[in-house]
Amino acid sequence: MEYYVHFKPISHLCLHFLLVLFSCMGAGLSSNIVKHTCLEKEREALLSFKQDLADPSGRLASWMGHACCQWQGISCNNRTGHVEKIDLRSTYHSFLVGKINPSLIHLKHLSYLDLSQNDFQGIQLPKFIGQLKSLRYLNLSCTSYAGEIPPSLANLSNLHYLDLSNPFYDCYSKNMNWLSHLRSLKYLNLGSVNLSSTGVGWLHDVIMLPSLLELHLFYCHIDKSLFRLSPLMINFTSLLVLDMSSNFLHSSFPRWLLNLISLKSLEHLNLRGMGLQGQIPQVIGHLCKLKMLNLGGNDFNGDLQEFLSGFSNCRDNGRMVSELQHLDLHFNSFSGSFPESLRHLPSLKTLHLSSNHMNGSINPQILGQLSQLVDLDLSKNSWEGVLTESHFMNLTRLETFRIGTNRPALSSSLIFNVTDDWLPPFKLRTVDIQNCRMGPAFPVWLQSQTQLVDVLLDNTGISGRIPVDWLLKISSHVESLLLPNNDIGGKLPFQFKFLKITVMDLRHNQFEGTLQQLLPTNVPLLRELYLSDNHLKGTIPPSICQVQYMTILSLRNNQFSGEFPQEWSMWRYLRVVDVGNNNLSGNIPSSVGIPRSLGVLKMNDNNFGGEIPFAMQNCSNLTGIDLGGNKLTGKLPLWLGSKLSKLQILRLRFNYLSGNIPQQLCNLKELHILDLGHNDLSGTIPKCLSNLTSLASGLTSWHLYGDYDEQTTVIMKGGEHTYSSDHTLMWVMSIDLSSNNLKGEIPEEICALIRLVSLNLSRNQLVGKIPSKFRNLTGLETLDLSFNHLLGQIPQSFSSLTLLSHLNLSYNNLSGRIPSGPQLQTLDSSSYVGNPSLCGFPVLTKCEGDDTSTLQTFLGGDSQDEDENEKLGFYISMVLGFILSFWGVCGTLLIKKSWRYAYFQFFDNLKDKIAVAITLKVARLQRRL
Ligand SMILES: *[C@@H]1O[C@H](CO)[C@@H](O)[C@H](O)[C@H]1NC(C)=O
Ligand SMILES: *[C@@H]1O[C@H](CO)[C@@H](O)[C@H](O)[C@H]1NC(C)=O
Ligand SMILES: *[C@@H]1O[C@H](CO)[C@@H](O)[C@H](O)[C@H]1NC(C)=O
Ligand SMILES: *[C@@H]1O[C@H](CO)[C@@H](O)[C@H](O)[C@H]1NC(C)=O
Ligand SMILES: *[C@@H]1O[C@H](CO)[C@@H](O)[C@H](O)[C@H]1NC(C)=O
Ligand SMILES: *[C@@H]1O[C@H](CO)[C@@H](O)[C@H](O)[C@H]1NC(C)=O
Repeated sequence: MEYYVHFKPISHLCLHFLLVLFSCMGAGLSSNIVKHTCLEKEREALLSFKQDLADPSGRLASWMGHACCQWQGISCNNRTGHVEKIDLRSTYHSFLVGKINPSLIHLKHLSYLDLSQNDFQGIQLPKFIGQLKSLRYLNLSCTSYAGEIPPSLANLSNLHYLDLSNPFYDCYSKNMNWLSHLRSLKYLNLGSVNLSSTGVGWLHDVIMLPSLLELHLFYCHIDKSLFRLSPLMINFTSLLVLDMSSNFLHSSFPRWLLNLISLKSLEHLNLRGMGLQGQIPQVIGHLCKLKMLNLGGNDFNGDLQEFLSGFSNCRDNGRMVSELQHLDLHFNSFSGSFPESLRHLPSLKTLHLSSNHMNGSINPQILGQLSQLVDLDLSKNSWEGVLTESHFMNLTRLETFRIGTNRPALSSSLIFNVTDDWLPPFKLRTVDIQNCRMGPAFPVWLQSQTQLVDVLLDNTGISGRIPVDWLLKISSHVESLLLPNNDIGGKLPFQFKFLKITVMDLRHNQFEGTLQQLLPTNVPLLRELYLSDNHLKGTIPPSICQVQYMTILSLRNNQFSGEFPQEWSMWRYLRVVDVGNNNLSGNIPSSVGIPRSLGVLKMNDNNFGGEIPFAMQNCSNLTGIDLGGNKLTGKLPLWLGSKLSKLQILRLRFNYLSGNIPQQLCNLKELHILDLGHNDLSGTIPKCLSNLTSLASGLTSWHLYGDYDEQTTVIMKGGEHTYSSDHTLMWVMSIDLSSNNLKGEIPEEICALIRLVSLNLSRNQLVGKIPSKFRNLTGLETLDLSFNHLLGQIPQSFSSLTLLSHLNLSYNNLSGRIPSGPQLQTLDSSSYVGNPSLCGFPVLTKCEGDDTSTLQTFLGGDSQDEDENEKLGFYISMVLGFILSFWGVCGTLLIKKSWRYAYFQFFDNLKDKIAVAITLKVARLQRRL
């Protein structure tokens, strides 16, 4: 049985970039228009400035005529008439593109310059900015500038506010001397500016700037050496806000920081995603002014109880005075039970403890003290026990509630048991309950929650139908409705108008009926639809193509029949179509290539006929194609190799494809699963297969498609195994060309693919010898060369294939002594039958000159253990692979924790998702090993 992990829906990384973009876009334009005609020289300067900017949305349309003080974004001094303020902060739809014209230096009285979120297309910030000496406010954040920050900024000694944060662009500073001249700075933001080569000591000087209140240095590549070499003695600071997140120290809590913290002024401390380890120093609890503390995404461990009890110092006449409102400790390694010392934090509004190793039951008395809570995230821990009304009695302000265990066990140890007449004191907007028993009936209390925007009930044991009244009440505003892995039945709820819904996930339930009610007008914003593993039938209605924002459509493992709709051209953002394992027929729509954005196409195990549609070659972003188990005819298209360069999985097994295996396939540098078995392919195995870089290096990249869980079946180890993107798919390295009419010899070049785990060339017409270089394939677990015409000896070097657990060389013309070796010793004679000239263990024929008495007995395995052993073997080889090589992002993530944090931090909004997917993967791996 397959389980899924679900998170708040976010459709794709790209979306994240948009989110970042949005987050860069705060308030709009505010311009104080002063009625005054402006000075001619300044007017000309502004016009020159305008000339270097393309203005697609007409933001500068008012920049004409003489009254420049009334132009949009310009403010002048109402006595002198000098331009003092330029505020051209852009909004999402209306940015300016180009560069900054030097004419600005004629605005001698300019004190406020905000050009944030416009697009300077990678230009370097001009030096002349240093001449704008009147500037008090300078905001160039998110302007896509690049290169070095001009040290001439040192001249801006009046600056109070400086924001140069610049995500996604390669900008840096080599030397921070310029900063120490800005003695008036109150606010400094250098987020995402690379400060890795700035030398030592400056951080101290910056923190000691006499007026500095806010310091934002997130993702600045500041590393440990910087801190180690500067013994910071900080005896004064006015700092209120410190954000050092996403600088990867990979160390215990730095001393200088403790030093800083002892000054107690801090209100806002963000150390998220810094790779910090060990215990959190209790002294943090002495920061009684602290309102926000974010230590998420680190590797802190120990019991929270002790750290939190530090806050008990914050007392005034016996009264609790800690002002902490936001505490984020998610994704660490905290253990212990729900900490009793939380009662020292009566002002908490946000508490995130998700993705830790906390256990035990949650004490209602402690939770009851936190009556200000608005956002409570207790998901992905090892909680036990029963949640009842008493847990929630005081949580009248709760809007976001997440809880659950990280183990998708069938009978979860966490139970939600409230009486049917319980009316919760809160009105939730987000509910997220995973791996926690709530069913079997649909919880009555949930039906009182009618303001819900995001609903996730995953593996909660709910069966029966979704209450119609409740659906009707939330349908107008719900944005995500995720109820996967339950036993919910009845018809799909498409009779309602879900005007805001973007993700609907009902996979792995008992839904019946058809999709006929899925009208685009009822789900106008739907992006992701997961209905896999239900009992749906009927045809897929053409109207589904009119759901115009659809990016992911997963209908696999149902009983849909008929043809797949042709109107793909109406989809513009499509990334995934998975209709595997249904009864669909007809031709694969020729319009498949119209949304070029397609990333995964799975139409396997249906009755599709015809040829692989030509238009698919337009989908240059395809990473996975699975059309196996159909009745496709024709040749393997050459463009598969020449146009689809990102392909990682190509599975065309069980069709009627003919012709040669084209050389072009060798261009697929990222391919790691190639399955062309059971077709009518002829010709020879191309020698150029050695060009399949992924299989040679073990390097695969990682594509995320929302919550889509890609599954691919691979024949390995003598059986079918389904690997999913939630587990191990990206690590499967396999070539299967079995059951075709391939001729000629096995090209020695194939032995360059040293990361291969499975190679199946059986049931062809292959001749010649087995190349001795097979010894290079040290990761090989499955090798099937049976039913060919191979000759000669089995290379003795086979003994070095220490992971080989499934070897089939049967029915060839092999001869001579069977090689021996610790691993080969465990295989039985069935690996070799049909080769009458083979001799030696384990076949009965003795080789000439062998001692007749040493007939070894064969050790039979307990068949029940076999499956486990297979899995174990796979994981072992996986681990070997991952020690020996990089696996793109994911391999790196697993190995280098610091990178992992970087990654999580950077993709902030995806954090839980990726983080937890990884934690789960690692946890699973550890359990299995
Ligand atoms: C001039 O500006 C100042 C500050 O912006 C304001 O307080 C004052 O009222 C203005 N005077 C006139 C005449 O608009
Ligand atoms: C901080 O320490 C430095 C050097 O130890 C000293 O010169 C300075 O006066 C101290 N400042 C304060 C505010 O104590
Ligand atoms: C709820 O809050 C009140 C007052 O703050 C407190 O006395 C009571 O113990 C709390 N209830 C629970 C169940 O913790
Ligand atoms: C739920 O609570 C009811 C009444 O308090 C009790 O009878 C029942 O056994 C509880 N169920 C579980 C699973 O704890
Ligand atoms: C392919 O993916 C890249 C990167 O994600 C994207 O920029 C590009 O627009 C995509 N191409 C198509 C045709 O969708
Ligand atoms: C294989 O790679 C080699 C070296 O990179 C290149 O010269 C050759 O053209 C490639 N062969 C094919 C068929 O792509």
